[in-house]
Amino acid sequence: MSNKILKILVTGANGQLGKCIQDVAKSYPQFNFHFKTSKDLNISEKEQLGALFDQEKYDFCVNCAAYTAVDKAETEKDKAYLVNAEAVRYLAEVCKEQNCVLIHISTDFVFDGNKTTPYTEEDIPNPINVYGASKLKGEQYIHEILEKYFIFRTSWVYSEYGNNFVKTMLHLGKEREVLSVVNDQIGSPTYAGDLAKLVLGIIEVNSNKYGLYHYSNEGKISWYEFATEIFKQKGLKTKVNPIATEEYPTPARRPLYSVLDNSKIKERFKLEELTLSKIISNLNI
Ligand SMILES: NC(=O)c1ccc[n+]([C@@H]2O[C@H](COP(=O)([O-])OP(=O)(O)OC[C@H]3O[C@@H](n4cnc5c(N)ncnc54)[C@H](OP(=O)(O)O)[C@@H]3O)[C@@H](O)[C@H]2O)c1
Repeated sequence: MSNKILKILVTGANGQLGKCIQDVAKSYPQFNFHFKTSKDLNISEKEQLGALFDQEKYDFCVNCAAYTAVDKAETEKDKAYLVNAEAVRYLAEVCKEQNCVLIHISTDFVFDGNKTTPYTEEDIPNPINVYGASKLKGEQYIHEILEKYFIFRTSWVYSEYGNNFVKTMLHLGKEREVLSVVNDQIGSPTYAGDLAKLVLGIIEVNSNKYGLYHYSNEGKISWYEFATEIFKQKGLKTKVNPIATEEYPTPARRPLYSVLDNSKIKERFKLEELTLSKIISNLNI
């Protein structure tokens, strides 16, 4: 692949990660990116995928498409599985036929949250909600079908785009004087722009260190602490009350602890400058 121009398909291009990849792609004029939004390409439509892959020969497929409505997934199980599992199987199959490397994103929500130390790739997943289970099924298809793939499990993604906790807090913070936020769910907020840099960095080095990796920004925090930090950095006076998960019932259960251990990805790739930001160092949203 050394001297040819790499052709890269990016699905779900209008999501948080998709948009951040579009931004970072500006630094990679040497690559030929094909960005496809959900309207351009519905990955759940096997025929659409087949037709596209008949027409184009891709070197990499970055799957940013996903069903990410964690609570809604509890009542839309079929939809969640269609996008997060079956469509991922279709993608893996077309990638296999074309010898295309699949870069797929998964989630900390594959774990049950019963640990108290960071989750490694060796830990056994045990999802406690439909979203997590559907994402795990997608991972399993990739493991079964492909050899040339990267799965990056990430957590608590935020960015200047789409819907995320930071944007919700900033919106609520302008409307309300007091907010209650759960203080007993611990994780690592991850800036989608850093994940985008990681993905394109991996393509740039054309690595063959395929497999499953955990990747998040470094550090851990509760949602309450995260909200407090967001308001502090943005100079908002909103008061935040810490509450327990039981006091804020949601349709989907969430792991109480889902910090990911980044050791493997750090050891295998030289990431320091590329992407290993500290949590909440990217709140300039
Ligand atoms: N957000 C988080 O906190 C978080 C945490 C851990 C892991 N992740 C994973 O990280 C990845 C990126 O997440 P994100 O936050 O960027 O998600 P996002 O903002 O919700 O974007 C997902 C995109 O996928 C598109 N999509 C949905 N169904 C599709 C289909 N059938 N065909 C094509 N496109 C489809 C959506 O399009 P429409 O808008 O048109 O529906 C949307 O643009 C996902 O794999 C997610 O599971 C996210």
